[in-house]
Amino acid sequence: MKKIAFLSQKGGSGKTTLAVHTAVAAHEAGERVVVIDTDPQKSATIWGETRSQDAPIVATAAAAELLHVLDVAKRERMTLAIVDTAPHAAPDATRIVCAVDLVVIPCRPTAFDIAAIGSAVDIVKAAGVPAVFVLSACPFRSPEISETRTLLAEYGFPIATVEIIDRRAFARAIASGRAVTEFESDGKAASEIRALWGWIKEQIQ
Ligand SMILES: Nc1ncnc2c1ncn2[C@@H]1O[C@H](COP(=O)(O)OP(=O)(O)O)[C@@H](O)[C@H]1O
Ligand SMILES: [Mg+2]
Repeated sequence: MKKIAFLSQKGGSGKTTLAVHTAVAAHEAGERVVVIDTDPQKSATIWGETRSQDAPIVATAAAAELLHVLDVAKRERMTLAIVDTAPHAAPDATRIVCAVDLVVIPCRPTAFDIAAIGSAVDIVKAAGVPAVFVLSACPFRSPEISETRTLLAEYGFPIATVEIIDRRAFARAIASGRAVTEFESDGKAASEIRALWGWIKEQIQ
């Protein structure tokens, strides 16, 4: 079972949106997926409760219980665990990071988000766990996208080749307990998410 966590110390960067969308895309591609929501605000859990489908499974766990829940998921023959996180402080953030194979750090192309990236990078580097960046909620074709790529490149982690654009479909999907690949399967948002899952999968193989 592969394990990935979406982490950033900034609220609103797109962790939950990307975690649940990646989970559905991976499920649609044949993985047995569990989403583990470690955020006390329970956004992913609420999304799961709103859903009519059984998969992917959504579990809720405190950071301290994560290893146990991952163990259960492995015994249940899950092939992919996706951990959604709150902007946890140490030691919870470190616990989560150390429990996964890859940390995905979403970053919006804004000055505030870029300024906040350093603390997630510090946690990941201290733990020695592989990490990647994903540009999230990007204004369509904005020059900030390539500027952000240049700034993030300085941290030395790979950056997902696909950018996730700011699209109402993402917010609408979350609010209705779905994913964009489920209600607009041939839309642009759906193809971005499929491409993101394909790219992340390459990173964990
Ligand atoms: N690509 C996107 N397009 C449109 N809205 C987005 C996108 N990504 C995130 N959002 C919206 O931004 C807000 C914060 O996203 P969320 O995934 O909850 O961030 P986090 O989990 O990091 O706090 C939500 O209202 C969500 O719907
Ligand atoms: Mg969240």
